[in-house]
Amino acid sequence: MIELAGLSKRYGDKVAVDRLTFAVRPGIVTGFLGPNGAGKSTTMRMILGLDHPSAGDVRIDGRHYAQLKDPLTYIGALLDAKAVHGGRSAYNHLLCLAQSNGIPKRRVAEVLDTVGLTTVARKKAKGFSLGMGQRLGIAAALLGDPRILMFDEPVNGLDPEGIHWIRNLMKSLAAQGRTVFVSSHLMSEMALTADHLVVIGQGRLLADTSMPDFIRQNSRSYVRIRSPQRERLLDTLHESGITVVEAGGGVLEVDGGKAEQIGELAARHGVVLHELSPQQASLEEAFMQLTAEAVEYHAHADPGLGPQDRSAGWKGRAR
Ligand SMILES: Nc1ncnc2c1ncn2[C@@H]1O[C@H](COP(=O)(O)OP(=O)(O)OP(=O)(O)O)[C@@H](O)[C@H]1O
Ligand SMILES: [Mg+2]
Repeated sequence: MIELAGLSKRYGDKVAVDRLTFAVRPGIVTGFLGPNGAGKSTTMRMILGLDHPSAGDVRIDGRHYAQLKDPLTYIGALLDAKAVHGGRSAYNHLLCLAQSNGIPKRRVAEVLDTVGLTTVARKKAKGFSLGMGQRLGIAAALLGDPRILMFDEPVNGLDPEGIHWIRNLMKSLAAQGRTVFVSSHLMSEMALTADHLVVIGQGRLLADTSMPDFIRQNSRSYVRIRSPQRERLLDTLHESGITVVEAGGGVLEVDGGKAEQIGELAARHGVVLHELSPQQASLEEAFMQLTAEAVEYHAHADPGLGPQDRSAGWKGRAR
């Protein structure tokens, strides 16, 4: 278990991490989400004792990282896949880590096999592709067979097979009762991988909740309706006090889960429906809604993108 209590980090005037209090529990995959610059990597560095907190405390199974004997056997982490001596082979890189943490030599070959790097084990790390580097970083995290694993953007640079592999790897590590803490920008990927979510924005905690609760609390559920008798349907809904939004392309949207009520109303008034479908916003939409206020680095929509600018379209609907 990883426990943070009022954990804060300040760089000059900049508050990168602001009084974070939460626990990362064993047996599940906990996703760590937040916009660019939210403080995810800084938080992870403080967990590993690589950055000193300005205030607050963080403990790994009740102890500070520096108090752990052979730390790789307690917590394995992938923070920066490029943090490897380029002139060393994958095998020697892992062997150095193993020897400094009292880990038997045979584990090196085992983890190289687990991550699929056995055939390039003797090649120098500087020649590795982005995805191979990520795999080597994951091998280092697994080396000490630790009960706690932490990955900062692990799928960065992995191909679809690699993404699929790491998703299953994280789930299986959690199923073995380990603590798995993983940050990612890929919301669709998190939706498939994480059981629990911790969301931060500008260093502050925005949510600490299960995945289904997060989507329920932060996303919009609505009913999508299409009818060839649009005007009549609008009148009928209006008379019943139901608020309708015109979403363009002949689509009407009604907030909430009122599909049955709308269907029965349409039948009673003899209005033909071509579509009546309950919709739930995706995790990506829920995330964007929650963090909209906390995004520091906004891109400006390319004027050439026009109606295909999906984020602008989504924001328009959500407000
Ligand atoms: N060594 C440092 N010195 C000064 N400021 C820093 C330092 N490290 C991080 N920061 C600042 O702290 C904030 C949080 O950065 P951090 O890298 O933790 O964010 P992040 O959530 O990991 O972002 P990303 O999603 O882009 O990886 C940023 O504003 C960053 O500029
Ligand atoms: Mg980061």
